Amino acid sequence: MASTIVVANRKGGSGKTTSAVNIADGLARQGKRVLLVDADSQAQATVSCGVLPYRLTATVYELFHLILADREGRHDVEPTIIKSHKSFDLIPSKPDLAAVELEAAQAPGREALLHDVLLEVDRDYDFIIIDLPPSLGLITINGLAAANYLIVPIEPTFLSMDGLAQMMNILYRVNAEFNPSLRLMGILPVKCDRRTNLARSVLEEIQKNFGKDRLLPPVRNDIKLAEAPSFGKTISEYAPSCRGARDYQQVVEEVLYRSLT
Ligand SMILES: Nc1ncnc2c1ncn2[C@@H]1O[C@H](COP(=O)(O)OP(=O)(O)OP(=O)(O)O)[C@@H](O)[C@H]1O
Ligand SMILES: [Mg+2]
Repeated sequence: MASTIVVANRKGGSGKTTSAVNIADGLARQGKRVLLVDADSQAQATVSCGVLPYRLTATVYELFHLILADREGRHDVEPTIIKSHKSFDLIPSKPDLAAVELEAAQAPGREALLHDVLLEVDRDYDFIIIDLPPSLGLITINGLAAANYLIVPIEPTFLSMDGLAQMMNILYRVNAEFNPSLRLMGILPVKCDRRTNLARSVLEEIQKNFGKDRLLPPVRNDIKLAEAPSFGKTISEYAPSCRGARDYQQVVEEVLYRSLT
């Protein structure tokens, strides 16, 4: 059975996609079988993998439709999975995915659509990584309902502490209503400059509120991490020895360790 990790934060631009793509790549480079699911209609994880979303006819959007049309049947997810493009496999997204929020709004069991999709491929992977949009809509709930572990990337500023508190409330709600097995794997500081007082005090605050062991190793600010997606490359492909690549390697080590404990 795969460990399914959802990368979520309601705050936009908090490093979700960068983290999802590079954690997926890092785990695959450790020999794990990895599937990355782009569950954001912005399709930035798809683009970051060098896949252009606009002409795709098989994406997570079409999978949601298959499941909506026949909840009980088996669904062939395979044709949607892009393989041998990267070290990991990808279920891509496209802008149409936003329509699911309305199209599935009244469907019974609408929170479990992604869970049902992933059940079909669960045995083929060691890790499934889900990249979510910043909004708290039906797709986000689907991502949280489908996972065992939650990673919350945050930029260490005081405003992001508010977003973190909101994410914890969402986690408790999801645990109570949809998915009791979702656990916080960790809070991942990104774009983090530990030399500044602000970053240091926000990290201390997080440790005080959530416990020291909830923090994942911080990822420093590195322009290479922002450049890599424009070439459709992961950081290990684009600049394997830069500090961003080294930092994500540390994160991956810790993710592997925490998925076993
Ligand atoms: N450690 C880092 N150093 C420098 N730039 C970074 C770093 N992490 C992410 N970025 C850049 O910050 C921006 C936002 O990151 P990203 O797209 O991963 O956030 P997101 O949470 O997925 O955004 P959204 O909420 O829109 O989905 C991107 O331009 C990305 O390249
Ligand atoms: Mg994103």
